[in-house]
Amino acid sequence: MCGIIGYIGDNGALDIGMKGLKRLEYRGYDSAGLAISNGKEVSCIKVVGKVEELEKIVGDKDLVGSSIILHSRWATHGGITESNAHPHADCKGNIFVVHNGIIENYKQIREKLKLMGHKFVSETDTEVLPHLIEHFYNGNLEEAVIKALKYIKGTYGLVVMAKHNSDRIVVARMFSPLVISVNEHGGFVASDPSAIISHSKRMIFLEDGEVAVIKKDDFIITDLERKVKDKKETELDWDIEEAQKSGYAHFMLKEIMEQSESVANSMRGRLIIEEGISKLGGIDSVKDKLKDIKKINILACGTSYYAGLIGEYLLEELAGIPTEVDFASEFRYRKFPTVENEAYLFISQSGETADSLAALKEVKKRKALSLGIVNVVGSSIARETDAGVYNHAGPEIGVASTKAFTSQVVVLALVALFLGRQRNLSLADGKTIAKEISKLPELINNTLKDISAIELLAKKYNSASNFLFIGRKYSYPVAMEGALKLKEISYIHSEGYSAGEMKHGPIALIEENFPTIAICPQDSVYEKTVSNIQEIKARNGKVIAITTQGNEEIKSLVDDIIYIPKVNEVLSPILSVIPVQIFAYYMAVSFGHNPDMPRNLAKSVTVE
Ligand code: F6R
Repeated sequence: MCGIIGYIGDNGALDIGMKGLKRLEYRGYDSAGLAISNGKEVSCIKVVGKVEELEKIVGDKDLVGSSIILHSRWATHGGITESNAHPHADCKGNIFVVHNGIIENYKQIREKLKLMGHKFVSETDTEVLPHLIEHFYNGNLEEAVIKALKYIKGTYGLVVMAKHNSDRIVVARMFSPLVISVNEHGGFVASDPSAIISHSKRMIFLEDGEVAVIKKDDFIITDLERKVKDKKETELDWDIEEAQKSGYAHFMLKEIMEQSESVANSMRGRLIIEEGISKLGGIDSVKDKLKDIKKINILACGTSYYAGLIGEYLLEELAGIPTEVDFASEFRYRKFPTVENEAYLFISQSGETADSLAALKEVKKRKALSLGIVNVVGSSIARETDAGVYNHAGPEIGVASTKAFTSQVVVLALVALFLGRQRNLSLADGKTIAKEISKLPELINNTLKDISAIELLAKKYNSASNFLFIGRKYSYPVAMEGALKLKEISYIHSEGYSAGEMKHGPIALIEENFPTIAICPQDSVYEKTVSNIQEIKARNGKVIAITTQGNEEIKSLVDDIIYIPKVNEVLSPILSVIPVQIFAYYMAVSFGHNPDMPRNLAKSVTVE
């Protein structure tokens, strides 16, 4: 998400810090800032916009320093403003913090600190950190940081400097990556190896619960009980570009592989399993209106539209609310009549898609309630809708959407659970769903364990010029998403169909060289999909089945099988979409195409 770099040493802290921050630019961000210490004073500068803007301001000042911490922010809590940018400071301007992650209990901590007289100047969750550290500070920075962290619930990768301890920076990790390196050039820390790889290829990857004190020629790593940890360095043989992709060949593959983490981020702090509910701060302001909602219209484009189709099943099944889904590009030209008590839900990764924005304008003209599920904080759709839920999936760089999709479906499940529990969904059923949602990161990890088998399948089938994807119920939108992924990056013609529609036309296409990918987890419509598979096999069509682990009986029926873990059927798309993403990726790679930059496509479609 956000980018962090810190340095302490004799080699020109400002230059090292700014160059490192620039290397994190590829991740996307909305504001940037730094704090630099010359041993006596700390200067802190923050700007809205690109690192260039920060460079301009810094260029006008005479900043010399021996330690520096820098941050590029991708907003999660609070708008894109200078005061919300990092570093954040305590009341006295002694302690400065840059932070990635989310402090879940910041509201409670902030209220307590305010009662003690602390003054807050931002809307961020991060700002509680310098104040809490200040509260415990007694001249020993690491001790104060550790004491503060014991009160924190949530995730962090953080770097702290203090005016009165200018010989060190203190860093800590909980679920948010940090690497450190101390060598003859000084001490370095970064959220991403790419920021510091030009200074050192030997790095130590911090683990959750670890705290490091970094000096210019020395470091120590302990746990939160101050027990010293003996850590080994890792030698990275990546160049800078490889480092930005964490060693993956493409951003698309990196984003596919990080879905366990992005989905965990989408649900973090939002599920109360024992009450069987979800807590969604972004729609809290309209929760009373939502109680009376009788119809939901979902509007989106492309992959976000397919997530919307899954949302339709979820909202109808869990909340009993009639739901309709349309392409925003079509809807904007419909003469749609509004009815009382309906809501319009916009789903968009970028929050800038022109067709979705135009449809939103039409909805606003009619004064209907508009909601958003948006990944990019502060984007147009996020700003223009009445209320909404952010995905928190992190920046998506590959043009083909992958982690945004799984995150959208998770957020839709959270919204459906929220609305369901406002209505007739029982406590027991709410608990079951909440528990299943919470297991998703682990199940995604299992799904991603052996992707080499899918790579082999892509090679086996890459002479086919056409592909069909089929599925029923929750798997039907996955079939369409699979066909979209394949066509957009491998340029192979592919179609996604409801399995039940096969005999109404598309089955005419089936022959030996027209393979089908059947998404058929063992759910309530499994037997029906198996019948459709049999119809394809009877016409000599090849079938790859994506089905539930342990399903042996399908072996005799299909040509190839990809297994996914067992999960409640309402969440099955989050697992079943992963093999089709991987399949499309390796198909593209097998033809020598760059999946990150498919021809004719742009990441954000801001024209009609
Ligand atoms: C496909 C893809 C596009 C987008 C669509 C909507 O991989 O990325 O189909 O899903 O252009 O974009 P957002 O979600 O930004 O509104």
